[in-house]
Amino acid sequence: MRVLVTGHQGYLGTVMVPVLRASGHEVTGLDIGYFADCVLGSAPQDPPGIAADLRDVTAEQLAGFDAVIHLAALSNDPLGALVPQITHDINHHASVRLARLAKDAGVTRFLYASTCSVYGSAGDGLVDESAPLRPLTPYAQSKVRVEDDLVALADSGFSPVFLRNATAFGFSPRLRADIVLNNLVGHAVLDGVVKVLSDGTPWRPLVHAEDIARAFAVCLEAPTAAIHCRAYNIGTETNNLTVAEIADAVAEVVPGAKVLITGESGADPRSYRVDFAAARRELGFEARWSVAAGAEELYTEYRDRGLTATDFAERFVRLARLRELGERGDIDGELRRIGHAAASAGDSPVRVGG
Ligand SMILES: NC(=O)c1ccc[n+]([C@@H]2O[C@H](COP(=O)([O-])OP(=O)(O)OC[C@H]3O[C@@H](n4cnc5c(N)ncnc54)[C@H](O)[C@@H]3O)[C@@H](O)[C@H]2O)c1
Repeated sequence: MRVLVTGHQGYLGTVMVPVLRASGHEVTGLDIGYFADCVLGSAPQDPPGIAADLRDVTAEQLAGFDAVIHLAALSNDPLGALVPQITHDINHHASVRLARLAKDAGVTRFLYASTCSVYGSAGDGLVDESAPLRPLTPYAQSKVRVEDDLVALADSGFSPVFLRNATAFGFSPRLRADIVLNNLVGHAVLDGVVKVLSDGTPWRPLVHAEDIARAFAVCLEAPTAAIHCRAYNIGTETNNLTVAEIADAVAEVVPGAKVLITGESGADPRSYRVDFAAARRELGFEARWSVAAGAEELYTEYRDRGLTATDFAERFVRLARLRELGERGDIDGELRRIGHAAASAGDSPVRVGG
């Protein structure tokens, strides 16, 4: 299939592109490149790409693709809370516009990166895809709105599918340090302390970036009936852990690291345990990576690639990186590129990577 991957220069996209290519797909990327040079270790092999702001995508840029995998977003709750209007513009409005243009251009399959954060605070029971959605942040709200609007666009020639991913973990050359396991392993390696800024009781479902990539590959190839307008939780029940359990898994892997539970009431009210049976049953998808194996992988990569405290606190933290781009004058207050071909609508695509 000819597949357009938006957000291909992000944390998940950088892991996903090689997985799709290995399955025989012809991949093109589309990204504004906020984190393109935030790399730990050797530079990834990017596919041919379009350097563009999602908000300015044109119909011509979408012609000729069989499927779109839509990852590009301001991706995380604190970031979304800081700039709620821009989060809605990029994550919601631009996503729906992208889908509409893709449908008009003859794209038949639209795979959307949603999140288990849509369940909000769901208590101790397992939530499946039919559970009420209680998004607690602008980020999670934007995901729910896109799902709703994509259902309205669906018809016999256009099939959206929503992959509600658990929180990702694992090594990607375009690392993120602001997601829970990656963050705790980093602190363990750099400070010797696995610091939990809460009482450790909230539930978090976790999934490895590579398993997410495989789930998207499965959805590209699944029969239309199995994916048309369907939501699938992506992860595995064995990786539904409390934050304290995640911290213990890290301490077991990083020599000398000690767990510190601060007990303060955390700013993040999310807590949910997720049922992943539907993807297993209907797509045959099984996540392979355990949290322990992921912690081991991260520990080895951080150590061998020489992760520094500064990079861990700044370059690999999405919010800090966007602030830096703003201070350098690379992006404006709406996070648009300044003095860049991608900054205005109708520009011809700038090819990057390759
Ligand atoms: N990482 C997770 O734990 C997780 C969990 C569930 C869902 N998701 C979803 O998966 C997707 C990818 O997440 P990620 O962790 O790779 O995030 P990321 O921040 O690493 O990557 C997002 C990419 O989108 C690009 N982007 C952002 N705004 C853009 C714009 N206006 N125009 C063009 N490109 C733009 C960025 O440059 C970046 O390369 C997101 O939609 C996210 O919400 C992620």
